[in-house]
Amino acid sequence: MAKVRVMSGMRPTGPLHLGHLFGVLTNWVRMQEEYDCFFAIADWHALSTGSCDTSQLRNHTLEVLLDWLAAGVDPKKATIFVQSAIPEIAELALLLSMITPLGWLQRNPSVREQIVELQLDEERIGYGLVGYPVLQAADILLFAGERVPVGKDQLPHLELTRDIARRFNRWYGEIFREPEPLLTTTPAVPGIDGRKMSKSYGNTVRLAATSEELENQLMTAITDPGRQRRYDPGYPEICTIFAYWQMHAAPAAQQVALTCRLGTLGCVEDKRNFAAYLGDFLAPLQERREYYAARPDLLEEILQAGNRHARRIAQEMIKRVREAMQLNDFREYGQTPTPAENLG
Ligand code: TRP
Repeated sequence: MAKVRVMSGMRPTGPLHLGHLFGVLTNWVRMQEEYDCFFAIADWHALSTGSCDTSQLRNHTLEVLLDWLAAGVDPKKATIFVQSAIPEIAELALLLSMITPLGWLQRNPSVREQIVELQLDEERIGYGLVGYPVLQAADILLFAGERVPVGKDQLPHLELTRDIARRFNRWYGEIFREPEPLLTTTPAVPGIDGRKMSKSYGNTVRLAATSEELENQLMTAITDPGRQRRYDPGYPEICTIFAYWQMHAAPAAQQVALTCRLGTLGCVEDKRNFAAYLGDFLAPLQERREYYAARPDLLEEILQAGNRHARRIAQEMIKRVREAMQLNDFREYGQTPTPAENLG
């Protein structure tokens, strides 16, 4: 029986952090065993905000690839590709934009939130940002993704993808599958300041952090602000480090809660313990990262194989789309003739 197709993606906007690892990547690593997974490094999507500085895009794309591999995403099991290597995605996004009412996009709460969060004024709200969900719909529909693992913030995009697919199917024929979201069940990872871990808040712990970095960063974490002296009893439920313990090591967390409440475990000691624990936890990931980072040829091979596989599927699908829309006729006209044709 054919495996169910899973499609997801990530924008290469910088180094990945614990939020990505626990919110997304561990999920992907599990899913690659069971599903036919397609994971896109969505570099075009990264242009939808902050498109003026593109100097780091290539770098960030390769960093994301390294972080994925480090986390255990396996190119032998999943198809890893770069969005911009698949021009059919752009073609489909253009075609889908023709059947997507502007009202659907203007109502999309995720895009609106982003506009507010990034404080974008009219001049900075690009057509591409408003059209972000259409590009994402093209990613998903082109690869016939049946399940799309995403966070809650992405649900409006999925709903829109389904609406677009439905409209296309009604107008031109049954080509697309309506994808279902696969909601991540893990709670959002808090950042070291207790808010949601996010690059835009500057409160992340990088997957590639050195043990020194880990210790320095975790020392600044907010624990129990009411706990003034070392031997005061603490309240683990409001402590960020405790939230990390719970996420990573449930048995250790019980002990931490107990000794914190008794006042025998101090915050500094707790932070140091967790930094050491996390360092050990990340060590095999970082080793894998270094292994790949030292082999640029291997990275290139991985992307080439992934891109090639993704492209083949994309070409099949876009052909069906063109046929359904009766767009096939003029594609060969005016193409540069090959030398053999010239002779004839
Ligand atoms: N918009 C997604 C995010 O910011 C990334 C993404 C791009 C994506 N293409 C996708 C997610 C296709 C799922 C499916 O997280």
